Amino acid sequence: MLLTDKYAPKKLDDLLGNDEARARVRQWVLNWIAGRKQRPLLLHGPAGVGKTGTACALAKEFELDLIEMNASELRNKTRIEKVLHGATMAGSLTGNNKLLLIDDADAFQGRKDFGGAGAVARILAECACPIIVTATGVWDKNFSSIRSECELLEMKKVSRPAIRRMLERIADAEKLPAGAELLEKIVDNCAGDVRSALNDLQALNIGVRDREKDVFNRIRLIFKAKDIKEVQEATRGDLDYESIKLWIDENIPVEFTKPADLALAYHYLSRSDIFDGRIRKSNWEYLRYAIDMGTIGVSMSKDEPYRVFTKYAFPNYLREMSRSVARRAMLKAIGLKIGSHVHANRRDALEYLPLIREMGRKSQDAVAVHYGFDEEETAFIMETSPGKVRSKAK
Ligand SMILES: Nc1ncnc2c1ncn2[C@@H]1O[C@H](COP(=O)(O)OP(=O)(O)OP(=O)(O)O)[C@@H](O)[C@H]1O
Ligand SMILES: [Mg+2]
Repeated sequence: MLLTDKYAPKKLDDLLGNDEARARVRQWVLNWIAGRKQRPLLLHGPAGVGKTGTACALAKEFELDLIEMNASELRNKTRIEKVLHGATMAGSLTGNNKLLLIDDADAFQGRKDFGGAGAVARILAECACPIIVTATGVWDKNFSSIRSECELLEMKKVSRPAIRRMLERIADAEKLPAGAELLEKIVDNCAGDVRSALNDLQALNIGVRDREKDVFNRIRLIFKAKDIKEVQEATRGDLDYESIKLWIDENIPVEFTKPADLALAYHYLSRSDIFDGRIRKSNWEYLRYAIDMGTIGVSMSKDEPYRVFTKYAFPNYLREMSRSVARRAMLKAIGLKIGSHVHANRRDALEYLPLIREMGRKSQDAVAVHYGFDEEETAFIMETSPGKVRSKAK
């Protein structure tokens, strides 16, 4: 699970920084609840500071039904009417009040045929329910019709100490051995963007050196153990079996070179996996068997210990995972850019990716210019390295 999801704010006060803006948001919703109509709020500010998070936390804390709309959907008349109707209908199925969220309303700015602003402004003027609009930049003149319907609330970058404290707290809760120096680096790197800080912490979690060292030692002790007792000693204490299992899987062929040993070791690992599967159906008592088979079973698969020094490998799966944190951030940026051209939200927009890649094979530069992709994004889409994109552009 992504740390940004796991630690997403559940109530307004979970959000870091922007105290005044938060106090205003609270007052705004209390007024609504008390029956006093308020102008829509336009939360604007840099990426990853909690604009969307504020709307979600607000909905959770005050038990409002959050209706999320993308600015492009608001160009569709029937969809608008449905939403307006649904949003204003008193007493829904759950009896909750509504909160309409128009997220990333500026994703369409800069397009010549940007006509969405008018439609959004109309909703803002007509809708009788609380609305929050989020945007990164609001000073474009195309945005003025939206601006004039809203109360503007700026959300600023979050302060270094606040981010630092959060990272410390989460590193602690997640048992990540992230030292002061590393945390400092993350804080430096994120420049007030909380999402980026959390993503960095997560990426780090997967590759931390101390932890790796600990795992390397354990793996060595498990594989080289002469008897069951030694394996048990190596797995004593705080054992993260999920990741140990990946290490064992990756390194069985590295350790066991005799075919018979190898076959037996895989046999035990697969038995362990079967018990693991049963655990997921909440039979927790199977965990012991899963661990024993995956560690003792595997270790005892050899005739006698291999007395050579073995260089163990980092599990491929973990490497892929840590890449995928960056990958998701990249997909979001690309999705927004494509979305602003095809009038879709950023998730649906990604369905165009294969098509755009195909077009890119014919004229990569034209595609990059058209969608406004930078070198890294182009490289990601074309599945090559940024260096190649650069030299091609020359
Ligand atoms: N102020 C904050 N306090 C605590 N967590 C935060 C804060 N800001 C962001 N986060 C974390 O980062 C994640 C992303 O934040 P959010 O989606 O609210 O950013 P945003 O301001 O809407 O950015 P974008 O402009 O990219 O849409 C949240 O799920 C949360 O985990
Ligand atoms: Mg957002």
